[in-house]
Amino acid sequence: MRHCIYPGTFDPITYGHLDVLGRAAALFDHVTVAVADNPGKAPLFTVAERLAMLAPSAAKFPNVSVTAFDGLLVEFCINQKADAIIRGLRALSDFEFEFNMALMNRHLQPKVETIFVMPNEQFSYTSSSLVKQVAKYGGNVAHFVPPNVAAALTRAYSGRPG
Ligand code: COA
Repeated sequence: MRHCIYPGTFDPITYGHLDVLGRAAALFDHVTVAVADNPGKAPLFTVAERLAMLAPSAAKFPNVSVTAFDGLLVEFCINQKADAIIRGLRALSDFEFEFNMALMNRHLQPKVETIFVMPNEQFSYTSSSLVKQVAKYGGNVAHFVPPNVAAALTRAYSGRPG
């Protein structure tokens, strides 16, 4: 069985991430979406909130599960008996960071391959930070995130000082 891990902060999940997830689910027998706490990014949502936001979208794929992880990604991959890490490349600007991360992960654990897929070009400018910024100032994010995520963003920013 071919199993890959799709890791990220997912703060929050966007349609761009879901595009990557769909491609991974078509390529692998099983995909585990792995949510990193990533306190360095000062996430808006807790890991539990991010997992809950991901659940309805992941449930649309019969071969996708969602979980949290901490520590080194490659160690998580080995523990999960995963063959590969899936990452999305939205634009050339993603390349250097992703290239370095893939090579570092290969250095740490040569058994785990990193595979890149390109999301649909309509998502090339989508990022969780930009979506949060638009939501924070009352903009419409329906084009970028599923309805449950848009509602969570509205709740998170309503009543919070800007
Ligand atoms: N659609 C929309 N946005 C996308 C996207 C897509 N297809 N692909 C990436 N992004 C965005 C994300 O929204 C995020 O935006 P933000 O910075 O505005 O929040 C950004 O691109 C990158 O996020 P993501 O893909 O979630 O990666 P990350 O940098 O947050 O997470 C980890 C990286 C968690 C995979 C990495 O830090 C890790 O492996 N950590 C574990 C510790 C470890 O092993 N470290 C060694 C790694 S070499």
